Amino acid sequence: MISRRTFLRNALLGSSGVAAGLAINDLRPDGYTGSPILEEHRIDIVDLPPAFQGYRIGFLTDIHLGIWVPQSWLIEALAALQRRDLDLLILGGDYIYINASRAWQSAGAVRNSDYESLSRPESAAAIYRDVATIISRASFPDGIIGVVGNHEHWNYYPLFIKTLKDFPSIKILINEEHSISRNGDHLHIFGVDDYVTGIPLPPPPRERTKNSSRLLISHNPDYIPAILQQRNDPFDFAMCGHTHGGQICLPVLGGLLIQIRDNRFMEGLTTVDKGSVYTSRGLGVVGLPFRFNCPAEITIFELQRA
Ligand SMILES: [Fe+2]
Repeated sequence: MISRRTFLRNALLGSSGVAAGLAINDLRPDGYTGSPILEEHRIDIVDLPPAFQGYRIGFLTDIHLGIWVPQSWLIEALAALQRRDLDLLILGGDYIYINASRAWQSAGAVRNSDYESLSRPESAAAIYRDVATIISRASFPDGIIGVVGNHEHWNYYPLFIKTLKDFPSIKILINEEHSISRNGDHLHIFGVDDYVTGIPLPPPPRERTKNSSRLLISHNPDYIPAILQQRNDPFDFAMCGHTHGGQICLPVLGGLLIQIRDNRFMEGLTTVDKGSVYTSRGLGVVGLPFRFNCPAEITIFELQRA
């Protein structure tokens, strides 16, 4: 399994001349988080069917719309992905963040005043509606699919489900499979419920075949070792979020936001068994209203036959 990082670090490192990177740079609203980086990875899959050679997937996770993440971050991230000639958009969960503490608000950390004066249930209703409205304005040839994260389970989960039903262009997979077919070839994409706060069920058993590949979306990457213990060879490629890459990454100490048990999946591409796993650092912030040494990320995967 080979990965090739062709990502655009110019947003942070100051190089120039890459149009998409410059567009992402526009995302920085205030210097709290640093600019999101557009990471582009080739994902090698054994026996990838010919119809999906070069298939391009945008991956956006941990949006955490709320008082610390303005709508503009999401709008710009989607606009950047729309410009990149993708086939499909996948959402990794954690669309919302409601911070109960007023301390950061009085410290001037509010970037988005839309929800500032709302009660908690009013905030959740507004955030779910706003995030779905913004995402539904984007369009990709094979659509938009996603999973739920722990923050949806923590914040009026039935309201999230009910709200998303009003946006049929966004298909949320909760222990469900979505298949995309081209010329008799198939991409089977299974979205699992959140590993910690939900009830995750395993994907349907599917053998490797010459005309199909299996993708997995799990908000929490700790599901990966769990499913690998239960099943032999359960996926070709899995996409995760949740970790924020540590969010605040100090020299020597590493990431402060440790939310997983298996640190192999803190961020980036990891080979496991016969497949590979990618964990994105995500777009938003939680706990503290900033990142350090751990830039936000939007991601593009291009599938290639190994
Ligand atoms: Fe998150």
